[in-house]
Amino acid sequence: MHEMNEATRIIHAGRDPKKQGWMVNPPIYQSSTIAFPTLKDLIYAERGYSNNDLVEPYELKYGRYGTQTNFALEQAIAEIENGYNTFVTSSGAAAVNTALIAFLKQGDHLLLVDNVYSPTRAFADKFLKKLGIETTYYNPLIGEDIKKLIKKNTKVIFMESPGSLSFEVQDVPAICKVAKKHGVITIMDNSWASGIYYKPLDHGVDVSVTALTKYINGHSDVMMGAITVQEKHFRAMYEAFRYMAVSAAPFSSYMVQRGLRTVKVRMDHAFKSAIQLASWLEQRHEVSKVLYPALESDPGNKLWKRDFTGAAGLFTIILDRKYSNESLARMLDKLHFYVMGYSWGGYESLILPIDATSIRTATKWFYSGKTCLRINVGLEDVEDLKSDLEAGFRRLRK
Ligand SMILES: Cc1ncc(COP(=O)(O)O)c(C=O)c1O
Repeated sequence: MHEMNEATRIIHAGRDPKKQGWMVNPPIYQSSTIAFPTLKDLIYAERGYSNNDLVEPYELKYGRYGTQTNFALEQAIAEIENGYNTFVTSSGAAAVNTALIAFLKQGDHLLLVDNVYSPTRAFADKFLKKLGIETTYYNPLIGEDIKKLIKKNTKVIFMESPGSLSFEVQDVPAICKVAKKHGVITIMDNSWASGIYYKPLDHGVDVSVTALTKYINGHSDVMMGAITVQEKHFRAMYEAFRYMAVSAAPFSSYMVQRGLRTVKVRMDHAFKSAIQLASWLEQRHEVSKVLYPALESDPGNKLWKRDFTGAAGLFTIILDRKYSNESLARMLDKLHFYVMGYSWGGYESLILPIDATSIRTATKWFYSGKTCLRINVGLEDVEDLKSDLEAGFRRLRK
């Protein structure tokens, strides 16, 4: 058989009806206790706790570390992301924080991208700081110049590309090349492309993190995350995952693998609609700029074209000026198809006023004087999404 194409791989990854009682979907194994039939089995299962013996991915030991339902999803994601294995966690933030904790200890230095998801930033500033881990923020456009920021104690470079508010595309391979030369671990939050349009490990990243809550689940009803590693990082991540006890519930894993089977179709649809909507928005006089790497006009378009195979339906528009809350409420409160909410990647469209002014420390947010709106393009008909916004702009200008 020839190599599977992406759409086929997503349908079949981690799923084998003959190994799951001829069920098409992996059944939900819901258990705290795992029963060991013999003393030999019990002794074998315990070897990973007491010493450094080799442990294998997807070993069944205790409900807190996941059951076969979690493992089915983990195997599917590892296959899609070309990883050695995947750990699924109770939220995207749990995946990010656990990945950081796996490699950092007291006295270490972390390089964190300045446009990072703000709870990741808060984790570094409040929690990692308390543990004696120092953070330096860097310009998302830094590329190979990251070498100038590497210190003797730099342990991790954390990337998020594109940033989920401002959408700068990072030169990930250039950063990874520098990191490898200095023995620094690279971690990337890949929630935007969700392992479908971008595969971090193929670009040299050591650890890929995805908020499954977003596109992979895609139905705005489950929170989960995934950490995918190369083989050499399996042991470090295995320990962090267990000590942090962040495993997801089997039912959530079931729901997310259900979402996974349709993610390519949903993302392709959102991508197509988002291009149409973003191009239309670019032409409107109420909009001074659209931050979306899939547009030719975007400064990140060259890198996006080089590294990505598609774009999520999430972007930001910068309006022509700062509008009062009163005007903005006239526009936003009466929209029919967009709701105001944070967790993007679902089937529904969202719109959210954002302001990154006070979040950044290494770079300036150039749009402080203007109203900015982040849009998640859902699966509605794009003409309806346009006309809803058009009417919204009319109310805004009134
Ligand atoms: C870029 C990014 N990473 C991580 C997360 C965290 O995911 P979760 O909400 O599942 O904790 C989010 C959530 O909005 C996000 O936007």
